[in-house]
Amino acid sequence: MKTGIIAVANQKGGVGKTTTAVNLAACLAEKRRQVLLIDIDPQANATSGLGLKKQPGASIYGALSGEKSADSLIQTTSVKMLDMIPSEIDLAGAEVEIARADGYLFRLKGIVSTILALEKYHYILLDCSPSLGLLTMNALASADSVLIPIQCEYYALEGLSMMLRLIEQLRTSGTNPSLTLEGIVMTMYDNRTNLSKQVVQEVITHFGDKIYETLIPRNVRLGEAPSFGQSIITYQSLSTGAVAYRQLAREFMTRRGDVVQEQGGLNPGSWQKDAGETSAPFAFLNRGTDSV
Ligand SMILES: Nc1ncnc2c1ncn2[C@@H]1O[C@H](COP(=O)(O)OP(=O)(O)OP(=O)(O)O)[C@@H](O)[C@H]1O
Ligand SMILES: [Mg+2]
Repeated sequence: MKTGIIAVANQKGGVGKTTTAVNLAACLAEKRRQVLLIDIDPQANATSGLGLKKQPGASIYGALSGEKSADSLIQTTSVKMLDMIPSEIDLAGAEVEIARADGYLFRLKGIVSTILALEKYHYILLDCSPSLGLLTMNALASADSVLIPIQCEYYALEGLSMMLRLIEQLRTSGTNPSLTLEGIVMTMYDNRTNLSKQVVQEVITHFGDKIYETLIPRNVRLGEAPSFGQSIITYQSLSTGAVAYRQLAREFMTRRGDVVQEQGGLNPGSWQKDAGETSAPFAFLNRGTDSV
């Protein structure tokens, strides 16, 4: 099994990295992919967002510092087929410690390779912090590809070009020669505002097919779910947020050539639609935002 290792990253804060990492991971698990989410952000939002406790000694820090084996840190979550290595505030200290260690850019890569040896996971997702410090650089050095969420707002493109330059530098410097851009997902889309529409059009003009056709709408349920320690599919399975992340998971898998087989489906190539879903190119531009 070839495991896909995807860093969810953007140095801009609050753009939907964690919301995307948690909910994409949950939706891939719902599609019967075995998924591991590693919370590599000391804020530990993905950890609490999936209802795991921030316990000292339980985080990825234990493995980064060499005190614990990676597999001993893996925890199950309330979502079937979704496991997690949590974070906690101690991870902030890891940055300082890693900086002193040999091969400081590749600490996480070593951990990930021991997890790969388990041959258990289809996907490993890394939820990065908004800083481009050593933890994020470790994630980018470990990943096959980077998924960049951007918020539909005026400054979206600025942050994006910085991320794209960084990916190129990591490639050319030999830090991660095969790192690719997985895709760009536009979040918090509000079709009632012209700004949202303009930003989407501009990003499509610049980045074309790197943009997922699935657009994540602004949806209050997506904001609420983490406070209940749940992914959107367990919190409000029929909300527009849940529908959107299911569609993103399907598009993500299809683009990767990972055949989407619906529950109970005997029809691997077919594109059965979830409720409210549409497959017309960029039809999302007309999709409403609501509070369901
Ligand atoms: N589509 C959405 N609709 C409504 N609220 C959202 C949506 N996506 C994210 N949010 C909310 O916006 C805030 C920022 O989202 P999130 O934590 O996912 O961003 P982030 O990029 O991970 O932030 P950070 O840079 O701090 O790690 C959170 O309160 C989250 O619940
Ligand atoms: Mg986050």
